[in-house]
Amino acid sequence: MKILITAGPTREPIDPVRFISNRSSGKMGYALARAFRRLNHEVLLISGPTHIDVPDLVDFIPVETAEEMYHAVSQMISRADVAIFCAAVADYTMKEIAPQKIKKTGDSLTLVMQKTKDILGSARSVHGFAGYLVGFAAETENLEQQARDKLQRKDCDMIIANDVSQQGIGFDASDNEVMIIEAHENTILPRDSKEHIAHHLAAMITEKAIRKNIASA
Ligand code: C5P
Repeated sequence: MKILITAGPTREPIDPVRFISNRSSGKMGYALARAFRRLNHEVLLISGPTHIDVPDLVDFIPVETAEEMYHAVSQMISRADVAIFCAAVADYTMKEIAPQKIKKTGDSLTLVMQKTKDILGSARSVHGFAGYLVGFAAETENLEQQARDKLQRKDCDMIIANDVSQQGIGFDASDNEVMIIEAHENTILPRDSKEHIAHHLAAMITEKAIRKNIASA
């Protein structure tokens, strides 16, 4: 199968030397890319800036901003059988990027930002993606409910939820503990390395995607 994965943070420029970003390391998305490759799938990784090497034999599109990631996904999603949105995309970007470095003239500085496009939310509604769709949810409270809402709102087959308020898992950590939310079931994968979690997820998603494709064929 052809698997599209988004990973890493995005960077939203403020002026020529500054940007707003987040703590996403890209570890989970890259671990998934490696895990799907090991299962002999064709993998396309669309990633914001990270410090991780691009896995061997994986197609790679580097991006910086949420808008660039949206554009890359729009171009490529129709070729995918499975799309997994692991990236920590900025929710807001600058309304206008200052053409010159902003000077520290005032005592305070107000930045005016506007919403970015929801890349995962556009997969079905804008791009008509009919394959197996997986989103991630990083929450600090009401994990299950928030993830279940996201599953419906973004028309996903699966949401992989993690509680980012817990120490040592999630953002920028090597371990994760995830709750897998599907329409009729929840599965918990207890704390383990992102590598092992990625293996479980890749095997599980492969099986479910095959079942879905057979059902809709
Ligand atoms: O709504 P929220 O941002 O919490 O949803 C998280 C999920 O949506 C993740 O899978 C993330 O990759 C995806 N997302 C996206 N584009 C955005 C915001 C989030 O693809 N602009």
